[in-house]
Amino acid sequence: MGKIDILKIARIAQEQKKINPSIIDATIGMFYNDERKLIIPMVEEAFHQLNVFETFKYGATDGGKIFEDNVISWVLDEKLELLKEKYLITGLSTPGGSGALSLIFNSYGKPGEKVLVSDLRWRYDYFIKSAKMDVHEHRLFLNGSFDLEDLEKQLTNLSQKQKRIIFVLNDPCHNPTGYQLTDFEWMGLIDVLNKFSQNEIILAYDIAYFDYNPLGFKEARKPFEYLLKLKSHVQVLICFSASKSFAIYGVRLGGLIGLHPTEEGYKYFKKFVVDDALGKWSTAPSVGVGIFNALSTKKDQYIEELNKLTHTLKVRGDIFVEEAKNAQLNIYPYSGGFFVLVHSKDPERDYELLVQKGIYLIPMETGLRIAICGITTNEVYGLASKIKEIIGESND
Ligand SMILES: Cc1ncc(COP(=O)(O)O)c(C=O)c1O
Repeated sequence: MGKIDILKIARIAQEQKKINPSIIDATIGMFYNDERKLIIPMVEEAFHQLNVFETFKYGATDGGKIFEDNVISWVLDEKLELLKEKYLITGLSTPGGSGALSLIFNSYGKPGEKVLVSDLRWRYDYFIKSAKMDVHEHRLFLNGSFDLEDLEKQLTNLSQKQKRIIFVLNDPCHNPTGYQLTDFEWMGLIDVLNKFSQNEIILAYDIAYFDYNPLGFKEARKPFEYLLKLKSHVQVLICFSASKSFAIYGVRLGGLIGLHPTEEGYKYFKKFVVDDALGKWSTAPSVGVGIFNALSTKKDQYIEELNKLTHTLKVRGDIFVEEAKNAQLNIYPYSGGFFVLVHSKDPERDYELLVQKGIYLIPMETGLRIAICGITTNEVYGLASKIKEIIGESND
């Protein structure tokens, strides 16, 4: 599933929907409100008020000091002061969360070595392959919960073969399942990572959807407290996606935030990660940096806007989960976010069957991903039972 071309399938669905509006296009991870609007008015206003000179001239490779402070403060928010007591903190602008991920694999990975990812995952494989590395999978779920035991087993396997292990964690609103670690699982995860003190662990913490956490903006930052319990062989590199938090998908802005327990780790980031960005894209787009810096000055007001989107998403998720239960449609554990994953024994076949009935989803290795972010609440009603009817036993 890590190598499906989602953008290509989404393009087909978009073309078909133009011809026939009754088509359900639940392919891509972009949030549309119930009026089918993608753009958030406050973001559009910030875009129109950009200083053209500042936008057109070359920016800084790291996004500049103002961006660095803003992105650290946006992401870590009220947990910043606590984290500062333990970590040296860095921030860097990137082209989307994708850029942040790509920097991690290139700057911290060694060609030929492996990156630890869950069996159900977004398409990290592209970035990993491009860094000439391979994937090593751990099983995400056991009986509907995070499978900590398998994580430890796979870490043990890898720890015997390579000194440094990059482990990708996508939480909350996991893509493609919508899973969210419980507090208990977070603590268990920290304990597991702490056991590997003979190795060097890079926790690539992909928080792409954390601003849509149904528990709210402040609560979404609670896991940062758990990171304080990590031992010094674990470095946390947080991948932030402005694409998602500001609905500026095509602008290509994100950020990489480093929590470095040692001076050495801090210096490495400042030298090698920034150099890697310079060697890849020179600077992230100034348009995004400008929009982000402007909205950072209106954070409280913007969070209110975000809350509306999160609420809509929660309503859609609740309807789908409830109807799935009634229709006995088997889904993976969902707590919130852009996607729900439906079990399927033959995703390619089921994908084709659903297309014939005007429903476009994304086929993955063991399921079909439904982007409830991209369809209206009205389109969610009845969808679970339609899917069950079409894919039948393949879902049992
Ligand atoms: C899990 C996950 N991480 C990161 C990203 C990166 O998004 P972007 O590069 O647009 O910020 C995405 C985008 O779909 C995603 O689903």
